[in-house]
Amino acid sequence: EIYLNGMTGAVPRLPTDLTRLEELTARRLGPGPVGYVAGSAGDGSTARANRAALERRRIVPRMLRDVHERDLSVEVLGRELPAPLALAPVGVLSIMHPDAEPAAARAAAAQGVPFVLSSASSTPMEDVARAMGDAERWFQLYWSKDREVTRSFLGRARTAGFTALFVTLDTPLLAWRPRDLDQAYLPFLHGVGTANYFTDPAFTAGLARPVHEDPNAAVLHFVNLFADPAKTWPDLAFLRENWSGPIVLKGVLHPDDARLAADAGMDGVVVSNHGGRQIAGSVAAADALPRVAEAVGDRLTVLFDSGVRTGDDVFKALALGARAVLLGRPYAYGLGLDGQAGVEHVIRCLLAEFDLTLALSGHAAPGSVGAGDLIEESA
Ligand code: FNR
Repeated sequence: EIYLNGMTGAVPRLPTDLTRLEELTARRLGPGPVGYVAGSAGDGSTARANRAALERRRIVPRMLRDVHERDLSVEVLGRELPAPLALAPVGVLSIMHPDAEPAAARAAAAQGVPFVLSSASSTPMEDVARAMGDAERWFQLYWSKDREVTRSFLGRARTAGFTALFVTLDTPLLAWRPRDLDQAYLPFLHGVGTANYFTDPAFTAGLARPVHEDPNAAVLHFVNLFADPAKTWPDLAFLRENWSGPIVLKGVLHPDDARLAADAGMDGVVVSNHGGRQIAGSVAAADALPRVAEAVGDRLTVLFDSGVRTGDDVFKALALGARAVLLGRPYAYGLGLDGQAGVEHVIRCLLAEFDLTLALSGHAAPGSVGAGDLIEESA
């Protein structure tokens, strides 16, 4: 479709090379918001390593394999998805666009891609759910210090039709992020609300005055509660007791942690380093993926994120052992540039390129992609 449009001279509103979106968004929105989204931990070495680890893997295509009819669908957490893709949880999307999470969620729903809603969203989860109708949605939990807040979030998410829980483990503390520090920019501190908290009865019960009367106190309360560096593996039992659907641990990089996740009765892991935003000098997510898949691929659903920018990245992640990938920054830029349509553009380009890469590599479906499809160039 995109090729045919091109032949009639209809130029897409946004570039089809998704790696250009960051620069365009920076020009449109300025350094504060884009610095926050693009920014990484420390000197950015992990974000660079994420890209390098994917680029170092090269596809070795096979020929004459009848790829005329293709089926991109995969089963993830007991659901049939049209393609091995979901939108990653990205907090406070109102810094990118006033329509924020509901626009991104509607785009995901329109393209049949699951949307993972961040705990730290600028829109209450109930409103996002309403925007999605009965489309597939998953809820990401920042595991609060306060059990009642966690219990309340889980109850609200279940009632709002979120089917799977993604528990983010790699953010017990906010990282050292020079771009935010230097620009003194953190969305919460610029009046961008985290509405899931500010509308939560268990959260607001801990405030001396209502949020609108003393927003600074509410922000401080949020920062204080939002995650808990004292948690350990046995604490997962609390989540297992309070959530009956699938639970996926996000931010697992070590194969031993993946084994502990399986032992704790979890359903999946996301091999992720938070897009390089937490630890500078961390292992690249794509380098961690095959070791985790090898350790638990037969016990858990293994998902992947951090650094996916192109259709061939999706292919490589599958070849390294992922069942599906999550996409972070590129869709946030799509949102910043053109709202819901921008997010749909990003999803469609990525999946079109993935479909072509799959076919040109000799595969008619994701299930047949494996380690034999890649070679690794020496670093
Ligand atoms: C994130 N990420 C994230 N993860 C999470 O579990 N909860 C959250 O609220 C957020 N918020 C967030 C904000 C911004 C601005 C970014 C860029 C990322 C991490 C996200 O889910 C995912 O792991 C990475 O974005 C994946 O890497 P790429 O695709 O951005 O390279």
